[in-house]
Amino acid sequence: MLTSPRLKSHNGLFNGNNKGFARLVASSCRAVVVPRFGGAEVLEVRPDVAVPELKPEEVLVRSRAVSVNPLDTRMRSGYGRSIFEAHLPLILGRDVSGEVAGVGSRVRRVRVGEEVFGALHPTALRGTYADYAILPQHQLAPKPPSLSHVEASAIPFAALTAWRALYSTARITQGQRVLVLGGGGAVGFAAIQLAVALKCHVSTTCGTQSIHRVLEAGAEQAVDYVSEDIEVAVKGKFDAVLDTIGVPETERIGVNFLKRGGHYMTLQGEAASLTDRYGLAVGLPIATAVLLKKQIQYRYSHGIVTTFAEYWWTYMRADSDGLHGIRLLSESGKLKIPVEKIFPISQVREAHEAKEKRLIPGKVVLELD
Ligand SMILES: NC(=O)c1ccc[n+]([C@@H]2O[C@H](COP(=O)([O-])OP(=O)(O)OC[C@H]3O[C@@H](n4cnc5c(N)ncnc54)[C@H](OP(=O)(O)O)[C@@H]3O)[C@@H](O)[C@H]2O)c1
Repeated sequence: MLTSPRLKSHNGLFNGNNKGFARLVASSCRAVVVPRFGGAEVLEVRPDVAVPELKPEEVLVRSRAVSVNPLDTRMRSGYGRSIFEAHLPLILGRDVSGEVAGVGSRVRRVRVGEEVFGALHPTALRGTYADYAILPQHQLAPKPPSLSHVEASAIPFAALTAWRALYSTARITQGQRVLVLGGGGAVGFAAIQLAVALKCHVSTTCGTQSIHRVLEAGAEQAVDYVSEDIEVAVKGKFDAVLDTIGVPETERIGVNFLKRGGHYMTLQGEAASLTDRYGLAVGLPIATAVLLKKQIQYRYSHGIVTTFAEYWWTYMRADSDGLHGIRLLSESGKLKIPVEKIFPISQVREAHEAKEKRLIPGKVVLELD
């Protein structure tokens, strides 16, 4: 008998790990879709959205919790339209924590029934706000057993973004000085903890309500960006500056605090907005030119020389080694992203509104029953 979610047997779900077991997977399920770009009111919870066949490297995850990232609310409003518009209605969501419900024929890293967490790449077309999400196997890792699905779902996208900037781009090492502009948000807070885990000296800016939390996480200095003058309060130069805010003011401050040969990295690169404006074919070369211009400009105006590598637009990247490292740090209690509020998936509109209007200061997670 077919019930909702509809079930079908799937021949592609045998592999070496699960040999001999016929798998039942959903052919359709509940999902949150964006039929057109707009405010939170465009979000629809649909009961019967198709679940595509799994490709050999893909994993079907029974989602238990998905976190709300700023990218989700921005995508809903039309950010990335040069990529996503042709694929409306879209399923939103990057992060997920849940159980493996099915695996493609070449999946070896996870097994059916295992609890996993992970995050999709920013340009992935089918998101995680669904009872059944599909992720490539390298974008998943076993969920730390000490964390609930809600806690685990808050971590991967933000932590992988911070991982890429600090560990892959700046390649920070023990004892270096790291400045995180905007350490109160999920990416900034993850960055503080990643730098502290490497025994770096961390300074950060954040809102008043985040000061205690960032100091407890190991930052040596926390500057209140509302009531203090950052340029007076922060002393010395830094090997790496991660700017999670990325407005002209924080960019100017961040670059000025950079040591010779250090890395300034902003999360607010202009690639997506330029491709949205001019289309992929024209927008991408323009974005490359804008980035190069900035790199050259700072090379001369601020003497951040030696190579072009010091000024970067940094983006989240799916990285299985990074996810593995993040899992180990989370398991050992060295990396946490506190969850401020949990909404049932049926209240996704309220969750988006709360996040967008900053009614809730911290991480928001959607729970799927
Ligand atoms: N490029 C990428 O691939 C990528 C990936 C992930 C995120 N992002 C972007 O990075 C940003 C942060 O993402 P997130 O997930 O960390 O968001 P989030 O958890 O919502 O954090 C936002 C935080 O920014 C802080 N903030 C706002 N204005 C500030 C200022 N002037 N100075 C210092 N802190 C300020 C606030 O911290 P307080 O609570 O302390 O006030 C707020 O909590 C978003 O714009 C997001 O779109 C980009």
